[in-house]
Amino acid sequence: MNIQIAGTGRHLPEDVLTNADLEKMVATSNQWIVERTGIHERRIAGKGVCASDLAAPAAQQALAAAGIKPEEVDLIIVGTSTPDMYFPSTACFVQAKIGAVNAVAFDVLAACSGFIYGLSMAENFLKGGKFKTALVIGAEVYSSIINWEDRTTCVLFGDGAGAVVLRAGEGTPGILSTHIFSDGTKAGDLYTPGGGSVNRFTPELVTMKKYALTMKGNSTFKVAVKSMADAARIALEKNGVSASDLKMVVPHQANQRIISAVAKQLGLDESLFYSNLERYGNTAAASIPIALDEVVREGKAVKGDLILMVTFGGGFTWGSALIRL
Ligand code: ACO
Repeated sequence: MNIQIAGTGRHLPEDVLTNADLEKMVATSNQWIVERTGIHERRIAGKGVCASDLAAPAAQQALAAAGIKPEEVDLIIVGTSTPDMYFPSTACFVQAKIGAVNAVAFDVLAACSGFIYGLSMAENFLKGGKFKTALVIGAEVYSSIINWEDRTTCVLFGDGAGAVVLRAGEGTPGILSTHIFSDGTKAGDLYTPGGGSVNRFTPELVTMKKYALTMKGNSTFKVAVKSMADAARIALEKNGVSASDLKMVVPHQANQRIISAVAKQLGLDESLFYSNLERYGNTAAASIPIALDEVVREGKAVKGDLILMVTFGGGFTWGSALIRL
């Protein structure tokens, strides 16, 4: 039983927030943001636009590319840490919006690693033989958990969604392997402290903006580089593949300096690493499927090409996946 990537899709909100806009909101500068992150602008979901509103059109685009009807989908997994609601899952909202009436739907929470975690889960479900067709989606509205007065985080993130359709069958393998990892001892380095059962919603919590994302940027940066490089090596070794066999690396889009440092640790040319950070910032679990869809639709990689995806996020969580288009 092999798993093929049958189609990809993405959806970005239209509203653009530029570095110049942020200069008017917090004590920052275009120069600082560009030099430290590589980000020039990000997309922001309009008022009332939720994660499933972005996920549904991305999923529909991926299904259209695969030539698969919504009723044929058996499984929907949405990687998100900015769900529509605590429950039901965002995946259930997506199921209803696209009419995937025969699907089982649930979310996976692994922050920026949510898409690779979802891909790994879908791979195992499909290999188990119970399901044939899966939609794996990364969808985020990080603008809803940002403290817009905190310059250390508000310049980094953006909103968006990306999706892939996976199909189990006899053809050549599309997913060669997935590898996922966690370290819960570092939870306090990157988290949203309030709103859960630890710090429940109160007027004080909202006044103190405790619902917002908090990050120790510098230590996260160092662990991210090492973890992503390790996960990349594991995927290559497991498949007996060398970097020269790769068409491209599609990394999580957190920071251009992280991408450069990962490339350096692996002894690879940075040009092998796809980047759209400049336009979208860090869209967390959505960043890899958005980038993958751009790569596919713009013909930067074609059928048969090997692509390595690597990620890192809150938890800490990290992972990799080696795929053949
Ligand atoms: N504008 C201007 N100055 C700023 C800004 C800003 N937007 N933000 C911070 N600064 C200042 C700081 O206050 C500090 O000033 P000080 O020296 O006077 O104290 C100085 O710039 C340097 O700050 P650092 O935090 O050391 O900057 P760094 O070079 O580490 O860059 C960044 C910060 C971009 C956050 C980087 O650490 C990073 O990318 N970290 C990793 C992010 C990541 O990978 N997250 C994981 C995925 S996200 C997820 O899972 C949800």
